[in-house]
Amino acid sequence: MIPPLVYELVNQEQLAREVASYIGATAIKSEQLTDQPHLYLSESGLSFFHPEARSKNKFQIDFNSGSTGWRIKRADHEKLIKKALGKSEHPLNILDCTAGMLQDTLLFLSLGHQVTALEQSKILFHLLQDGISRSEDQSIFKKLELIHTNACSYSAQAKNFDVIYFDPMYPSTKKNALGSGQLQYISKILETESLENNAFKDFEVLQLIPARKMVVKRPIKAEPFSPQTNYQVSGKTTRFDIYI
Ligand SMILES: C[S@@+](CC[C@H](N)C(=O)[O-])C[C@H]1O[C@@H](n2cnc3c(N)ncnc32)[C@H](O)[C@@H]1O
Repeated sequence: MIPPLVYELVNQEQLAREVASYIGATAIKSEQLTDQPHLYLSESGLSFFHPEARSKNKFQIDFNSGSTGWRIKRADHEKLIKKALGKSEHPLNILDCTAGMLQDTLLFLSLGHQVTALEQSKILFHLLQDGISRSEDQSIFKKLELIHTNACSYSAQAKNFDVIYFDPMYPSTKKNALGSGQLQYISKILETESLENNAFKDFEVLQLIPARKMVVKRPIKAEPFSPQTNYQVSGKTTRFDIYI
């Protein structure tokens, strides 16, 4: 069930109603605040709360600071991604099928590429839009088109991309259950919207999109989705499978 959107200030009512109507939620004033899952619109932006999430804080996309501050601690990851994309004299046109928190997309953008990023979750899509609107660095988003859609539905219209990028949710195991609080929040959002994915089925559809290459992010020890992987770029915990 889609949770309510709780707004704090009277002057946010119209925006709250617009977002709520897109999501299929009801907009309610903060006096009726609940300890059930809800979206929260306040002066500091849009956030999501789930009582079962490990993090006590509401989940908000913040491109300016904190743990979503994408420039932090990403040097190793950046090296791997650069290697996976390969050398190119011109900016690439990349389709990121799994926007998530846009962290990988931001790396692509910072390398000068053009990115179309797809996110299936309405809630996450709005959190991202809100994060982008509050970002102090607007220039980085100039070459981004963010679309709310399922990548498999979009695939028929996907043309002229150099690279298809696919980073599905890892299956939850006892070992990774205590992983990133943010990823746990994303799974809670997907659960709330009853969005279930089958990464292997998605891969089978997405690999048919015409492109120079497909880059698939996998846990280091996971089987590739296909034996036809052309090469792999491996880090400590993550691996990129490349299909040409
Ligand atoms: C592991 S996260 C991606 C993280 C992202 N690469 C980042 O750097 O922030 C997976 C995200 O992809 C989205 N997703 C999964 N399958 C999708 C699909 N078929 N179409 C669109 N979005 C999808 C999920 O909703 C989730 O937000």
